[in-house]
Amino acid sequence: MSQNVLDGSVAIKEQIDRDKLPRHIAIIMDGNGRWAKKQGAMRIFGHHHGIKAVREAVEGCGEIGIRFLTLYTFSTENWNRPKIEVDGIMQLLAKTIHEEVPRLHENNVRLKVIGDRDSLPKRARQKLEDAIDYTKDNTGLTLCLALSYSGKWDIIQAAKSIARQIKNNELAIEDINEEMFGSLLSTEETPDVDLMIRTGGDHRISNYLLWQSAYAELLFMDDIFWPEFDREHLFEAVYTFQQRERRFGKTGEQVK
Ligand code: IPE
Ligand code: IPE
Ligand code: MG
Repeated sequence: MSQNVLDGSVAIKEQIDRDKLPRHIAIIMDGNGRWAKKQGAMRIFGHHHGIKAVREAVEGCGEIGIRFLTLYTFSTENWNRPKIEVDGIMQLLAKTIHEEVPRLHENNVRLKVIGDRDSLPKRARQKLEDAIDYTKDNTGLTLCLALSYSGKWDIIQAAKSIARQIKNNELAIEDINEEMFGSLLSTEETPDVDLMIRTGGDHRISNYLLWQSAYAELLFMDDIFWPEFDREHLFEAVYTFQQRERRFGKTGEQVK
């Protein structure tokens, strides 16, 4: 049972109400570069350390039974970073996917990717495709990596798909609705985001899941950079989510 006041003597995980879990958590994993700088290291060092935090988030979600986790891994805008950083991240991505697949599989995790896959280097794309295929029948957490992703890109590609269908007389304009539009987004049938977390201290969405987060609860974890994130932070975030009143336009009395 969740309580209004966090009981310090009981582990946060035990205070999470398993009947009121967010179905879909999205995380903006921010602060790798600043974390590295704080230790006098290169930015890429921060990205390396971010992998441990990803493991914590994934396994924390598995422990409490979260169904969908979408991680902002590389945005469309991130291509504008210095080439040395972009190359470093892409190499790290290919290597990490390759190394982490057995562990993901062991944890019954199904891997997915959203974003403009064609813009990724061949090696990274190949590793991702192998991993997606290898884990496709897993039934636990669906882990979705947003790679070369932006919310505006996603909406545009859905709009193009609709335009094509109309042009081919496969769809009538009257049949366009929220549900069908949502199913054409890269997240397909994934439920909308319930909880969006951002580490690192900035308070913005940075072109993440714009449509899918229309009613997400936003949680900014300002005190930590992404490499410092662990499963206790995840449990804390879920607990905080459960204390919020989601009204979806109704009055407080209506949703009580
Ligand atoms: C997030 O950390 C990771 C990526 C965007 C790839 P940053 O690299 O943005 O770290 P800061 O925000 O500069 O500290
Ligand atoms: C958002 O972080 C993208 C990822 C975490 C992958 P950024 O660090 O790129 O965001 P802005 O540009 O500072 O908003
Ligand atoms: Mg950043």
